[in-house]
Amino acid sequence: MDSLTIFKRFTELKIIPVVTIERSLYSLELADALIEAGLPCAEITLRTNDAFTAIDKIACNRKEVLLGAGTVLKVDQVKEAIDMGAGFIVTPGFNQKVVEYCINNSITVIPGTSNPTDIGMALDYDLTLVKFFPAENYGGASTLRAMSAPYPMMRFIPTGGINIGNMMDYLALSSVIAIGGSWMVEKGLVNCGNFREITRLTKEAVNLVKG
Ligand code: 3PG
Repeated sequence: MDSLTIFKRFTELKIIPVVTIERSLYSLELADALIEAGLPCAEITLRTNDAFTAIDKIACNRKEVLLGAGTVLKVDQVKEAIDMGAGFIVTPGFNQKVVEYCINNSITVIPGTSNPTDIGMALDYDLTLVKFFPAENYGGASTLRAMSAPYPMMRFIPTGGINIGNMMDYLALSSVIAIGGSWMVEKGLVNCGNFREITRLTKEAVNLVKG
């Protein structure tokens, strides 16, 4: 899927569940819980040994899920995530090596930014969609509103500390196309296989977005 199609899907879905999965055994149940809630999308963080297997399983068996890899820190991780079937790459900070590799290989990358310098670097690479991370710690929606003002061409996916209570503050900003968060797929819920609760929390977020 090309970057424009992926960005369009983000704009439609408006929420990217950020999942840290410790047991890839649960990958398909997790994907099904999100699909059932009406949010066929997941960013699997590369913070666990099972992350690549989870990406592989979901990519092979649940093709309707818009699937990406998050917490990508190294070029080798990009290669493996893409081999396993990730459709996009998310980085916590602006990692030039990862960004350059992705651009040179036509891989969709959403680099992390937290200040105007990072945004300027993204623009240098003609990237106009970035993550704002960690959003709440860096001042939340009001900081993003002020920081994005000089950059009308930029679009953001704020992530970090976002939950059902503050997500709409971010989505109210015209520069925000979607938010990312782990609250509906919190590690404890995934680890103990509480997919019913994951579906409930995800549906709650989807319904709020739908108004
Ligand atoms: C990320 O990697 O984007 C964050 O860990 C997600 O942030 P959250 O857990 O605060 O939602």
